[in-house]
Amino acid sequence: MKIPKRLESLLQDGLIDEVLGQLMSGKESDVYLVSCHGETRCAKVYKEIQHRSFHKQTQYTEGRKVRNSRRSRAMEKHSRFGRKEQEDVWQNAEGDALRSLAAAGVRVPKAHGFSEGVLLMELVVDADGAVAPRLNDLCLSETLARTYHRLLIDQVVLMLCAGLIHGDLSEFNVLLAGDGPVIIDLPQVIDAAGNNNAKRFFTRDVDNLAAYFGQFAPELLATDFAAEIWHLYENGDLQPGTPLTGQFARIEKAADDDLVMREIEDARAEALARFAPSGAL
Ligand SMILES: Nc1ncnc2c1ncn2[C@@H]1O[C@H](COP(=O)(O)OP(=O)(O)O)[C@@H](O)[C@H]1O
Ligand SMILES: [Mg+2]
Repeated sequence: MKIPKRLESLLQDGLIDEVLGQLMSGKESDVYLVSCHGETRCAKVYKEIQHRSFHKQTQYTEGRKVRNSRRSRAMEKHSRFGRKEQEDVWQNAEGDALRSLAAAGVRVPKAHGFSEGVLLMELVVDADGAVAPRLNDLCLSETLARTYHRLLIDQVVLMLCAGLIHGDLSEFNVLLAGDGPVIIDLPQVIDAAGNNNAKRFFTRDVDNLAAYFGQFAPELLATDFAAEIWHLYENGDLQPGTPLTGQFARIEKAADDDLVMREIEDARAEALARFAPSGAL
C-alpha cells in the first residue's frame, strides 16, 4: 500500500519495517497494521488538534501533572507553542496510561513506543489470531454478558485503584481478545484525584457498561456499581478485589425508607399521645 505520510519517518528510523494496511479510520485517529521486528502490531496515528474540541479536551486533562514548568506555563497561556505542547501531552497520555495500567494489572494492549504523533502497540487478536472484534460488533449470550460485565467492573476498579478513569469507556472501546475483554483508546484518561469532573466521568463509564451488557442480561440495568465503587473510593476503602454487590443505591434507599417509617411511627405515637384521654396511656 501507499505509505501514509505520518508513518514515513517511523519507517526511516526503523521503528516499523512495513505498513501492512489500514485497520480503522476513527473520529480521532487512523489505525494501521504494521510489521515490526517480525511481529504484527498496531500504529495509532492521532488526528490533528483541529479535529477535536478544545473545550472537551481541557475538561479531561484537568489535574494532569506536567513535569516541565516551561511546558506547563506555555500550555496555560494557550500560545502556539502551548497548543503544540498540549497536543503532545494529550497524545503521550495514551502511551503513559497503557504503561501504568499494565503495571496495575489492567488488561490493555502493550505499548511499544510513541514517536511523531504515532503510538505503536500490541495488536489485540481473537482466538484464531484475527484482529479482535469490538464488543459493539458482537451479540452475547446472557451468561457471557454477565461474565464480561463483571470482568470489566473489576478492570474499572483496578484502574481507579491506580488513580485513573478511562473517560470514554463503552462497547466501542473494548475489544474481545481470545482470552477476554481488553480496554483500548485512552488519550482522554482522567486523573481520579485531580479532576473535578472525575465522579461524573466515572459514573458515565460504568453506566455505559451496564447499558450495553443490560441489552443481553437485563438485570444489569438495575445495578448501581458506579455509586457503590465511588463511595468506597472516596472513603479510602476501595482495593482490587473489594467485594461489590452493585446494589448501593437500593441499600441507601432502603435505609432511607426505614428512617422515614420510623419517623412516621414516632409522629403517630406522638399524635396518639396528644389526643389520648389523660391517664389512658
Ligand atoms: N491495539 C489494538 N488492537 C486491535 N485493534 C485496535 C487496537 N487499537 C485500536 N484498534 C482498532 O482501531 C479502532 C480505533 O481505535 P481507538 O483507539 O478506539 O481510536 P479512536 O479514538 O479513533 O476511536 C478501534 O475501534 C479498534 O477497532
Ligand atoms: Mg475508540
